[in-house]
Amino acid sequence: MLRLTALASGRGSNVAAIADAVARGDLDATLGLVVSNNSSAGVLSYAQTHGIPCAHISGKTHADEGAALLEALSAANTDVLVLAGYMKKLDPRVVSAYEGRAVNIHPGPLPDFGGRGMFGEHVHAAVLEAGRTQSGPTVHRVTAEYDEGATLGFRPVPVLPGDTPRSLGERVLAAEHDLYWRVLDEVFVRPSRSS
Ligand code: GAR
Repeated sequence: MLRLTALASGRGSNVAAIADAVARGDLDATLGLVVSNNSSAGVLSYAQTHGIPCAHISGKTHADEGAALLEALSAANTDVLVLAGYMKKLDPRVVSAYEGRAVNIHPGPLPDFGGRGMFGEHVHAAVLEAGRTQSGPTVHRVTAEYDEGATLGFRPVPVLPGDTPRSLGERVLAAEHDLYWRVLDEVFVRPSRSS
């Protein structure tokens, strides 16, 4: 069975949505490890209370953070690396070891609203500022550059009159939760069944 490792820096609602899809039987995979670079991240508490193995790996815990991450990923027999609000550039050794097997979710359309500094509410504020009538999360492959890998899935979300970055962000987040596990299923689980 496909073994997923999630990397997250914050509250972990996307990790929870993926774990829920696994628990419901909608995603035929195992969430074998959650790694955070932030010791106080909600995602670590979530993993602990749900019995998912987890680790805090950062420059504070390990002199060579990239090597420690690689070791943990390999020890967990990671097939697919799932970035979910991981607010840190991935070490190039990790990018190359998981080339074609690492994905990220971004809370806006790419490439227009991606790149350095484009995360969380900054993305929603930029979409509103640009006067767009549609936003929506994008799931894409991870490459060495921020938000540049091929798009694997996008879910349109309307921008409504009177939206604030927060209200738009809430609507986009709900779409993220329904999109991410479906893309993992389509891209990694189904093809491995038919081969
Ligand atoms: C999500 O909205 C995700 O798209 C975004 O961080 C949030 C994490 O929320 N990621 C980025 O902005 C990456 N550029 P979560 O911790 O509740 O899953």
